[in-house]
Amino acid sequence: MAGKPHPRGESWRHALSFEVWLLAATVVLCITPWLIAPQWAWVGTPLLAAYLLRQLYLLTRLALLIRRHHRLIPPFPRGLWGEIYRSIAQYQQRGRKGRKRQIRFTRRFREAANAVPDGLVILDKLHRVDWANPAAAALMNVHWPEDDGRPLFEILTHPDLKDFVETGESLRPMDLAPEHNRALMLSLRITPFGERKRQRLVVARDITKIYHLNMIRRDFVANASHELRTPLTVIAGFLESLIDAAATPPNHRRPLTLMHNQAERMRLIIEDLLTLSRLEMHEHPEVQERVDVPDELHLILQEAHALSNGRHAFSTDIDENLLLLGSAPELRSAFSNLVFNAVKHTPDGTEIRIRWAASSDSLALHIQDNGPGIEPEHLPRLTERFYRIDKARSRESGGTGLGLAIAKHIMNRHDARLLIASQIDRGSTFSCVFPRARAILREETEQETAPRALPHPTAEVRSTSGSDTACPHLNTDERSAAC
Ligand SMILES: Nc1ncnc2c1ncn2[C@@H]1O[C@H](COP(=O)(O)OP(=O)(O)OP(=O)(O)O)[C@@H](O)[C@H]1O
Ligand SMILES: [Mg+2]
Repeated sequence: MAGKPHPRGESWRHALSFEVWLLAATVVLCITPWLIAPQWAWVGTPLLAAYLLRQLYLLTRLALLIRRHHRLIPPFPRGLWGEIYRSIAQYQQRGRKGRKRQIRFTRRFREAANAVPDGLVILDKLHRVDWANPAAAALMNVHWPEDDGRPLFEILTHPDLKDFVETGESLRPMDLAPEHNRALMLSLRITPFGERKRQRLVVARDITKIYHLNMIRRDFVANASHELRTPLTVIAGFLESLIDAAATPPNHRRPLTLMHNQAERMRLIIEDLLTLSRLEMHEHPEVQERVDVPDELHLILQEAHALSNGRHAFSTDIDENLLLLGSAPELRSAFSNLVFNAVKHTPDGTEIRIRWAASSDSLALHIQDNGPGIEPEHLPRLTERFYRIDKARSRESGGTGLGLAIAKHIMNRHDARLLIASQIDRGSTFSCVFPRARAILREETEQETAPRALPHPTAEVRSTSGSDTACPHLNTDERSAAC
């Protein structure tokens, strides 16, 4: 296909023809005197020397310019050398433009990173400070470039920080009050990046305000609940006496019974709110022991049978050898709420399956039902306090809507996750997934002579089946007790 000749191709063709003509002229001028009059043959030598010297001069000049990183600027020599000079000049120009673009981009990135109110620190493969923005100085006491090359754990001291950075756990933030300013509360996030994800980006957010607001909320709920508990117990007690009293007119008995039931309900809500406040106090249970999960599940199952009263079909697949490191009362409370939920919130005839098993990297309890299922828009909100799908039905069944919020807290305290999956008309599965490190095999512990577990606390975490068996000694004065 005939097209417009490319200007570069054209100039190359000209340069090549110039070079061919120059060479041909030199050769002809050197050979002709030798052919015509051999005594004049020497005349060709200076011509050949001039030709070769031109080549040598242009080659040396080019080599020196490149070596000294000089810019190649016109005018360029004629012929092929000129083309070579021009091409190199174009390469140089492209390189300069690329470098300028890169500098502009780096400057913009630095300016943006410096303007971020969060502290940003980049750690190298050995987890030493590589770069930090100005906010990191105020928040984390990491000054860059002064602290360049210092391990982060030397600057920011916290017993769990080393593990946190090394594992590069990006999903869960870590809250810490830095030593240089105890009034601050930071939320640290780690993002592994770079070759084989060995470098780390540490982002520190100032959550002091949110933290204090949370503390105020938690204390308010705890104090209000605590203050309400005593008057309510007195009211419920008097109501009970009035119902039983012979002098009470028969037509007063029904309203009094209703009042007593409502007072009991309020007492249960208060107990659950106090439980939540207590769970929020510490990140992990104070007592971690060997929890016989199969045993607990069999007991919960007995209660679930009683609650269901034959209206549901139960099946189990429980690994009898698999125990768990954790807090028995807390786990009992979370597991029982999930099993009782499957009974309380599904219609008669529903099949409920309980599975406790280990996989290669985790151990999980699955409570599956083939009930009507939960609509997807409710799923993310189920673990919120007081969230119930059908408020009227839940209230009827005595539910406070705090059970799943408590279960989620308990799972967090055990480094576990509460997963909820549901499909309309197919049913729901509530799963508690624990890290494998918490698994204990029954045979292992039976062979051990020294007990590895701490003493077994006897308290309940919350009333489980809606009956009034709430932890009797759970009050704010004993919040730090291992209930
Ligand atoms: N297996 C289930 N099937 C259908 N809905 C469920 C199931 N489990 C829980 N739910 C829904 O989630 C809501 C929240 O459960 P949660 O355990 O927090 O509260 P509750 O059971 O109503 O009361 P509580 O556990 O405090 O006595 C329930 O009200 C119910 O609407
Ligand atoms: Mg419940």
